[in-house]
Amino acid sequence: MTQLPSKENLVKPAADLAILSDIKTLRAHARKDIEEGAVTSGYAADRKVVIKLLNEALATELVCVLRYKRHHFMAKGIHSESIKAEFLQHANEEMAHADLLAKRITELGGEPDFSPDGLSQRSHAEYVAGDTLNTMIKEDLIAERIAIESYREMIAYLADADPTTQKLLKEILAMEEEHAEDLASLMSNIKPEMPNLVM
Ligand SMILES: [Fe+2]
Ligand SMILES: [Fe+2]
Repeated sequence: MTQLPSKENLVKPAADLAILSDIKTLRAHARKDIEEGAVTSGYAADRKVVIKLLNEALATELVCVLRYKRHHFMAKGIHSESIKAEFLQHANEEMAHADLLAKRITELGGEPDFSPDGLSQRSHAEYVAGDTLNTMIKEDLIAERIAIESYREMIAYLADADPTTQKLLKEILAMEEEHAEDLASLMSNIKPEMPNLVM
């Protein structure tokens, strides 16, 4: 015969339960905040500030997409094929980041700002056209380093107040660090005397 657990084992100690809201309270809060979408009354961050920061990150990603696309199409020369492919891959990954940020902004009840007006002012990183493979790679690396710093600051600012946004930013940060590493290794492979003019 199967031994049933004793009543004592079924009931969690009161100390464990004290920190949890009871179901009635949870449901009441969820109903009250239904228009707020994913944001519940337990959300501890300043939502307006978080949305503003995410929109700045969105602008940064969009500027990076444009810069990498330009570099992909403008890179010329015998040594450029693998570099062109790298630029395109980065452009696509920055676009995926932009989509993730836009989605999170809407989850927080905000509006993602895709307006081309003022895009480069909202962005942390710059759009530099670049006229040689060397300058393209260098400018991309500078932009990645700026993105890395701003994501680090945002992650620190959020602390534990918005773990969902923080997790997303940590995932994006990890990829920006990979981008920076890719560019640093490309830079070390390109010699200054290489015929890398793009005309
Ligand atoms: Fe990115
Ligand atoms: Fe990147």
